[in-house]
Parts: sequence; C-alpha cells; structure tokens
Amino acid sequence: MTTKTNAARARPLADSGFASDVLSGLSARQKWLAPKYFYDERGSQLFEAITELKEYYPTRCELAILREHKADIAGVFGPKTALIEFGTGSTRKVRILLEAAKTVEAYVPVDISAEMLRQEAQQLQHDYPRLRVLPVAADFTLPFRLPSAIVGLSRAGFFPGSTIGNFEPQDAAAFLRHAGRMLGAHATLIVGVDLVKDANILNAAYDDASGVTAQFNLNLLTRINRELSANFDVDAFSHRAFYNSDRRRIEMHLVSGRRQAVNIAGHVIEFAAGETIHTENSYKYTIESFGLLAQSAGWTPIKVWTDGLFSVHALAKA
Ligand code: TRP
Repeated sequence: MTTKTNAARARPLADSGFASDVLSGLSARQKWLAPKYFYDERGSQLFEAITELKEYYPTRCELAILREHKADIAGVFGPKTALIEFGTGSTRKVRILLEAAKTVEAYVPVDISAEMLRQEAQQLQHDYPRLRVLPVAADFTLPFRLPSAIVGLSRAGFFPGSTIGNFEPQDAAAFLRHAGRMLGAHATLIVGVDLVKDANILNAAYDDASGVTAQFNLNLLTRINRELSANFDVDAFSHRAFYNSDRRRIEMHLVSGRRQAVNIAGHVIEFAAGETIHTENSYKYTIESFGLLAQSAGWTPIKVWTDGLFSVHALAKA
C-alpha cells in the first residue's frame, strides 16, 4: 500500500489517547506499545483462544484453584458485598466465585473492551437474575467511578489472570494502592498471580505451536492500521516471546523482518531490520515476592491457594 502522508490526509487525532500513545511509544529508543491496546474485538477473541491452548497453563490452573477452593475464597468476603472485577474479559472465573459467594449482591465487571463486556454482562444477568450486574466500560488502569448503586455494600475486588504481572512491579504496587483507595476501608482483594517456574514451560506458554499468541501480538498492528490510518505491512513483522530470568518476566516483542518505514496518523516511523517493538511483559512472582509487593501497597496477605504453578491470593486492607 502506498499511502501519501500529510497532515491534511491524517485523521484528526489530537484528542485520541490511542494515537498519541502509539506515536510516543514508537518514537522511543526501545519502541513499545501499551498492552491494553491488544483488546479490540478481535484481540479479545484471540485472547480467549489463548486461554484454551494446551501450552497456556495459567487459565486452566487458576480455574482449577478457584473450583477447588471457592468456598474458602468466598469466605473472605463480608456480608452484603459488591464484587468488582478489574479487566473482566470472560465471566468464566467469576461465575465460580458467585456459585459459592452467597453474600455477593452486586457484581461490577470493568473492562476496556465495551462490546465483550456488554455481551458477558447481559448473559451473566440472565443466568443470575437476583444479582445486580453493573458493568463499567473503562480502562481499569485509570481512575473510574464505581456505580452509585453499590452504596451501602462492602466491597471486594477480583483481579484474576495474572494481569497484575503485565504491570511493571512499581506500577503493580501503584495499581494495588489505587484499588485499595477505590475499594475503601475493610475491603478484600482476590488476585491471581503466575509463579516463577522452569523457563521451558514459560516460553511455550507465550509462544504456542499453533501460532495463536503470534496472531494476538500481530493483531495490534492490524488495529493500528485500521484505527490510525497506518500502513504496517503486518507480514513483515513476527512474534517473539521469551523468558528473561534475570527480571523474572516474559517479554513479548514484534520484530521487524527488514528495514522499513511506516506511516501512522501522518507521521513516519522507521524500523531497522531486526528492530523490535516491545508489546508486553508478564512478570512472574513467588508467593513471598508477591506478598511483599502487596504489603508495600497497603494490603495484608491473609490466605493463598496454589497448585505450584499459579497462585490465588486473598488480601485485606492493612
Ligand atoms: N495476564 C496474562 C499473562 O500475562 C494474560 C496475557 C496478557 C497474555 N497478554 C498476553 C497471555 C499475551 C499470552 C499472550 O499471562
């Protein structure tokens, strides 16, 4: 595609956070993009497909832990609780808790993918007619307002999927602090956290043989093309994921297969052959290291459930 690039042709994007985030990330020395932009409609679907891959153990492990210990986990919620889930995606996990948590009167799923949120909330409301389902379409990493309908209920947070691992550790602490402020005094928080383990298991989980994770990563470029009038040649990029054991994190990158220039929203971004865009980290913790992180952010670890691969932590306000 030969797109002529000039300010007149570019869409007016001055007020779009997506455009400015993409342009600033791709202007950095190590190019990077924020992972929240993975989740357009197609990205959300691809992510659900990842959770079913045989190599991707975290979802299966977490579901099994939730099933086995649901009564115990529900036991940490107070009477008359509003359960707030950060970054819901599918409601498959919270359904397990709802089966056991009879004190939950309202459920607030918060997700950046408005369409998936709407569908999931509607189906859940249908299946749980007495539960107040109050979806909030928002980027949960930014401040947002809780629905006023939950006043008078105690609050518990649910943050599964090791999404906490997609933050830099200091941002993870900041998020936990922010969640604590939002949930208020006496809140509890259930967090799913993937554990440090053998690098081969980790590498396979983020670079599956059938290439679904690669499609998920590359879909970010397709989205930028569509929404920001860009002309990435998606076939000229490839997926790379590896465990960085020093930093205890999986890194995901998109690698430029050749030297090339890309037009994005009226700007030209150049790539050297082999240059990468860093698209995501997935930090791994030990039970102890996560407990310390939580404590540094004003939470007290009260219980933890694990199968050795994945962990589910119950935290209470310190
Ligand atoms: N938070 C999960 C993890 O880090 C899920 C996830 C986010 C993910 N982005 C991903 C999984 C990309 C695979 C590929 O594992």
